[in-house]
Amino acid sequence: MAAVKSYEALKAELRAAPKTWLVTGVAGFIGSNLLETLLGLEQRVVGLDNFATGHQRNLDEVEAIVGAQRWARFRFIRGDIRTLATCRAACEGVDLVLHHAALGSVPRSIADPLTTNAVNIDGFVNMLVAARDAGAPRFVYAASSSTYGDHPGLPKVEGSIGAPLSPYAVTKYVNELYAGVFARTYGLQSIGLRYFNVFGPRQDPEGAYAAVIPKWIAAMIEGRPVHIHGDGKTSRDFCFVDNAVQANLLAACTASDEALNEVYNVAVGGRTSLNELYELLRQNLLPSFPHLRDARPIYGDFRAGDVLHSQADITKAAQRLGYQPSHRVAEGLAQAMRWYTTRPAAPAGAAGG
Ligand SMILES: NC(=O)c1ccc[n+]([C@@H]2O[C@H](COP(=O)([O-])OP(=O)(O)OC[C@H]3O[C@@H](n4cnc5c(N)ncnc54)[C@H](O)[C@@H]3O)[C@@H](O)[C@H]2O)c1
Repeated sequence: MAAVKSYEALKAELRAAPKTWLVTGVAGFIGSNLLETLLGLEQRVVGLDNFATGHQRNLDEVEAIVGAQRWARFRFIRGDIRTLATCRAACEGVDLVLHHAALGSVPRSIADPLTTNAVNIDGFVNMLVAARDAGAPRFVYAASSSTYGDHPGLPKVEGSIGAPLSPYAVTKYVNELYAGVFARTYGLQSIGLRYFNVFGPRQDPEGAYAAVIPKWIAAMIEGRPVHIHGDGKTSRDFCFVDNAVQANLLAACTASDEALNEVYNVAVGGRTSLNELYELLRQNLLPSFPHLRDARPIYGDFRAGDVLHSQADITKAAQRLGYQPSHRVAEGLAQAMRWYTTRPAAPAGAAGG
């Protein structure tokens, strides 16, 4: 087994010898954070997105952060992964693929399983076929902790999963199965990253399917009530987006055969209840928003498809990829708070685009 490289060493290597990366879902939350880091490391990036849930404003923000010179190394393709020809065009001449385009959200998949299936499975297979035919040496993809389903064990270890609790969870598990088949049948090297509740700048606070952290922060700032599904004891392993970016770069560049064609938990290994999260957010916001001094959440029914507790065992990613999360929840929240509190409001009625 090749020695595991540190993230710092890898970044120095990439700077010295830039590669060409494809990031699908580049206008989304995690995708745009990948783009920011890669361009910051002087890499060339091709991005693919259809703005289903991503936004032009995320790309604009990255452009403003990295500056014109680095931005010139980015080529954007507006297109849909459900079209094979688009996936083929995106994979052309690319060294490494980071596949993140998908329809997220458990409740969205329960409301509309057909579209979630078409994007997350048909689109995924299109991307595998395109990457295989383009001879892309490495395919890293966004898997999900939802694959643990109803398995009661804590912390979650990659080898033990339960029955899926939502159509979304099925699609993410099927991604893993297809990646395995493409490795065994065609020799396509892939790595799946099972993200656990990633949060950070550019995560969308708007819409019915917004993730808990940006949604609550927006409500708290605007003085609207925060609704907790259940008694607030539900817990999650919230993972700052810089940790997810690190895992992608390490996975894409690993020289270890043992690391390939595997899935990895990507989180911190901690557990924060929704009640604790609420309090953390309130304390962070209180200095700027004194109206939150006596704020309390409103409790409601548990939500279909949600798992009660989630916490990752990150030993496998640490050992095989050299993954070491740089931010725990409180540190990530402190860093992201500036973005949450200063971000320009989305135009009224804005969906994608
Ligand atoms: N955020 C999390 O906590 C989390 C947890 C587990 C897994 N994931 C996975 O990570 C990936 C990125 O998630 P995110 O949180 O950044 O979500 P996001 O919605 O911000 O990003 C997804 C991006 O994919 C694009 N997209 C959707 N359908 C597409 C299509 N048919 N063709 C082209 N582009 C399309 C969207 O427009 C969006 O920009 C997804 O695969 C998601 O399932 C995220």
